[in-house]
Amino acid sequence: MKLALYRKYRPKNFSEIIGQETTVLILKNAAIQNKIGHAYIFYGSRGTGKTTTARILAKVLNCKKRQEDSKFSELGEPCNECEICQAIDNNSFLDVVEIDAASNRGIDEIRNLKEGVQTSPSLGKYKIYIIDEVHMLTGAAFNALLKTLEEPPRHAIFILATTEYEKLPSTIISRAQRFLFKKVSALKILEKLKEIKEQENILIDDEALELIARSSEGSLRDAESILDQISSSAQKITLDLVEELIGKSSLKIIDQLTEMILKNDLASSLEYIRKLNDDGYNASQITKDLISYLRKIIVLHVNPKFTDNFQNDFTKEELKRLIDLSKLVNLDKHTVFLKYLIRAYSEIRYSPFSFIPLEIALIENLKQ
Ligand SMILES: Nc1ncnc2c1ncn2[C@@H]1O[C@H](COP(=O)(O)OP(=O)(O)OP(=O)(O)O)[C@@H](O)[C@H]1O
Ligand SMILES: [Mg+2]
Ligand SMILES: [Zn+2]
Repeated sequence: MKLALYRKYRPKNFSEIIGQETTVLILKNAAIQNKIGHAYIFYGSRGTGKTTTARILAKVLNCKKRQEDSKFSELGEPCNECEICQAIDNNSFLDVVEIDAASNRGIDEIRNLKEGVQTSPSLGKYKIYIIDEVHMLTGAAFNALLKTLEEPPRHAIFILATTEYEKLPSTIISRAQRFLFKKVSALKILEKLKEIKEQENILIDDEALELIARSSEGSLRDAESILDQISSSAQKITLDLVEELIGKSSLKIIDQLTEMILKNDLASSLEYIRKLNDDGYNASQITKDLISYLRKIIVLHVNPKFTDNFQNDFTKEELKRLIDLSKLVNLDKHTVFLKYLIRAYSEIRYSPFSFIPLEIALIENLKQ
């Protein structure tokens, strides 16, 4: 079976981790100075590198080459070549124990942990327990874990990972070093997807890659999984295909922007566009979608019966929303605006300034 892309492209070094610069810097420095804490909490949204970073840290702590070669150990990275690094990568190293707290809420595992943690590591320097989804542990399991965290043997290190930090008891939190894993920006996701596209020879339009990057909401794993899924379903991947797969995610965005425009709220709409730009949205696509949305709303303003014509494109609720928005239309003002938008659209396609033509259209039309 083919290895899933997100596993194939799992970073093996700290330096390959994307978008978690502060966390990586601190962990690397700790490794260089051999100042290792005995408990860490990695928290933050899904698919942002928590488990990956935990495994890299486990390798760093036990890597043979780091112990034998002081020059190498100053890099703060695992060698990925010694038998210990390789065993950890293959999940077959006895001194690194991964526990999935979600699977049976951890009672047996924590009991085993309590016993196992006291015996010395078999081959490595440290025994490392990676507890995933740690917020799922039962109260009893948390208590057992807490006891161990209060007086851990010197060879034991705990890395607790969770997407739901607020569910952790404060007694656990206060005994660990905490690291937030941030959502990865769409731009950085896009860069990574482009790299994978090159290496895997995937035929995919840039626009389609952009849509994948945006719609994965900061999760690199989600982005890689979507690319995986879609590249095995078609030879050449177009924007249409991706849209079909993930649903037209842009409707909500366009709807919000349209409301700001119809309410003549220039400040908010400019701010919103700046955010879309930061999040890596494509100016040309946004403007195109805005034109088609606004046109429908203007048509409905002139003749509400036109909803019949839009029934294939929208749900009942969405249609109701269109009708509501159409009540805000000022026919003269907004038809002129539509013309400006169409001009902005053709300018954007040939200009290096992406969102600026759209901004100008807004400023010219929404100013008092
Ligand atoms: N920051 C990142 N840098 C590079 N690749 C990443 C990053 N985050 C996630 N990935 C990719 O996504 C895959 C899954 O990441 P990982 O398992 O570390 O996420 P996680 O934060 O533990 O997610 P979950 O909360 O769902 O357990 C990795 O194998 C890698 O391909
Ligand atoms: Mg994980
Ligand atoms: Zn090694």
